[in-house]
Amino acid sequence: FDEKVLAGKRVLLTAGPTYEAIDTVRGITNISSGKMGYALARACRDAGAEVTLVSGPTALAAPLGVRLLPVQSAGEMYQAVLSEVGRSQVFISVAAVADYRVKNRSEHKIKKGDALPVIELEENPDILATVASLPAAPFCVGFAAESQNLLQFADSKRRKKKVPLLVANLAQQAMGSDDNEVTLLDDAGQHPLPAMAKAEVARAIVAHLARLL
Ligand code: C5P
Repeated sequence: FDEKVLAGKRVLLTAGPTYEAIDTVRGITNISSGKMGYALARACRDAGAEVTLVSGPTALAAPLGVRLLPVQSAGEMYQAVLSEVGRSQVFISVAAVADYRVKNRSEHKIKKGDALPVIELEENPDILATVASLPAAPFCVGFAAESQNLLQFADSKRRKKKVPLLVANLAQQAMGSDDNEVTLLDDAGQHPLPAMAKAEVARAIVAHLARLL
């Protein structure tokens, strides 16, 4: 960035998947790589922000100059975000948070037996919706990864979660990939961006966000 468009701002991000344990060796997760969230953390850093990244389990190296808080489950991510959000002016929720966790988690490895094990689920808190509805909410940026009806689902998600800026991408195109093609949705409408490397997408999102701040 020629100008440090986020100078003096503290930015909190979530990235990666979450891992919801079934027993001591098994769990429920998703194919999020964390690449988009890590690229955004770097872009915010390069734009002059002080960056804290709450990350689910990924294979990625910690970005230099970014405070990394590793977590596993959605519950841990929720706790980490709530304890950090008060000092942040911007919250960017990139993580693919599990909607459900295992209710009947086993403290021991489940053994194969006669009966099929039953996994009971209970709902996780929505981290983004919680932060966006705080009385002193930071400027919130959400993501929507859909496999169909992308812009329609994304628009209703933006309204429902009450976030001023939402980044829509196709799950099959975005998750795990080094490139991404996104549309930014804000009060002014829809802004499609060309397909490009996630580092470039991240810089475009930061530039747009800085204009809205
Ligand atoms: O509703 P959906 O999960 O598709 O919404 C995606 C957006 O909401 C993302 O920004 C994601 O990080 C956030 N989210 C969250 N906590 C959840 C579920 C989603 O912060 N439990």
